[in-house]
Amino acid sequence: MFIDDLLLKYDSDKISIGTLASHSSLQIVHGAKQEGFKTILVVLKNRLWFYKQFNHIIDKYIVVDHWRELCSEKVVNELQSENTVFIPHGSYVEYVGLDCALNLPIPIFGLRSLLQVEASQQAKMNLLKEAGIPIPRSYELGEEFDKLVIVKLPGAKGGKDYFIAKKPSEVIEKLNKLVSQGVIRDPREAIIQEYIIGVTAYYHYFYSPILNRLEILGADIRYESDIDGLKRIPQNFTVELGLEPTFTVVGNIPLVLRESLLPAILDMGLKFVKTTQEKLPPGIIGPFCLESIIDRNMNIKVFEFSGRIVAGTNLYLNGSPYSYLYWNEPMSTGRRIAREVKLAVERGELNKIVT
Ligand SMILES: Nc1ncnc2c1ncn2[C@@H]1O[C@H](COP(=O)(O)OP(=O)(O)O)[C@@H](O)[C@H]1O
Ligand SMILES: [Mg+2]
Repeated sequence: MFIDDLLLKYDSDKISIGTLASHSSLQIVHGAKQEGFKTILVVLKNRLWFYKQFNHIIDKYIVVDHWRELCSEKVVNELQSENTVFIPHGSYVEYVGLDCALNLPIPIFGLRSLLQVEASQQAKMNLLKEAGIPIPRSYELGEEFDKLVIVKLPGAKGGKDYFIAKKPSEVIEKLNKLVSQGVIRDPREAIIQEYIIGVTAYYHYFYSPILNRLEILGADIRYESDIDGLKRIPQNFTVELGLEPTFTVVGNIPLVLRESLLPAILDMGLKFVKTTQEKLPPGIIGPFCLESIIDRNMNIKVFEFSGRIVAGTNLYLNGSPYSYLYWNEPMSTGRRIAREVKLAVERGELNKIVT
C-alpha cells in the first residue's frame, strides 16, 4: 500500500498530529499536546481567528479557502514534510468528499476502507449484521410493515430530511417527492428501518492494535431538535399541527450506563472489531462509536455506527468515568489517539495504526 512507502520516508521521532479544524479538532490537538506532539490544523480562512484563541495547543495552521484543498499538492506536501499522522473525525468525509478522503496521500489514524462502507446506508447496516450485532429490522421499498418506520437518506446529513412513516405508500410518496426536489437520486438509496421506542445511547470505543484491547471510553446522548423537544408541548398539539419531527443534532449530553449493561456493550464492540478485521483487514484502528436505542426490556438495537471519533467524546476532555478505569489519569479520546501513536512510535509499529 502507498501509505507504507510514505511511512518509510517519515522521521518517526518528529511525528506531528494534524486534523481539520472542526468537529473534535480542539480535543484532538489538546490530547496530542499532552502527549508531546507537534500539532497542525488545516483551517478555513474565516475560522482562523477563532482557532487562534487556542494558540497554545496549535503549533501550525494550514489555511485554506475550501476543505477540498486538503488533497491539493501544496497542503499534502506541507503535511508530509511535517511527518503528519492525520486524524479523520466525524466531519472529514462530509467536508473533503469521499474521493479525497479515500485517496489522501497522508497516513491516517484509522481504517480508511471503512469510509467507503460508511458512505452507503445499506453497506453500513450489513456490516453490523454480519458482526452479529442486533439491529432494527429493515424493509424493502414497497414492502408491507405494521410498525412505525424511520426513513434515512444517504450521506451524513445529521438526520436532515429523515422522516417517520406509518404506511408503505407514505414512504414511496415522500421519497418520490425528495427525488423530484433533487435531494436524492433514487428512492432505493434510502433505508426504511423499524422505529424503535426507547432511549438513545451512543457508546464510544477505542480499539488499540498496539495493546490488542478494546476500551470503552465513554457514552453520550445526542440532543436532537426537534425530536428531543417534543415532550415540551402537549401531545394533542403535535398531532394537531401534523408536526414532522426532525433529528438535527444540537449537542451532546453525558451518559453513564447501568453497570449491568456494560458487558453487552463491550461484547458488541468486540464483535465489531472482529468483523472489521475479517472483512476489512487490518480492521478498525482507534475510536469508533455504536449508536443504539435501549428499549424497556433492556434490549439494545444498534441503528448506526461511526468508524471515527464522534463529537460526543468532546464531553470528556478530562477523561470519563470509564477512561479512568483503564488509565487512572485524565484520558480524552483525543489524548488516547495520541497515546496510541506514541506507543506505536516507541515500539517501531507505526504501520500498525495507520492506513
Ligand atoms: N431505528 C431507529 N429507531 C428510532 N430512532 C432512530 C432510529 N434510527 C435513528 N433514529 C434517530 O434518528 C437519529 C439519526 O439517525 P442516524 O441513523 O444516526 O443518522 P445520521 O446519519 O444522521 O447520524 C438518531 O440519532 C436517532 O435519534
Ligand atoms: Mg448517527
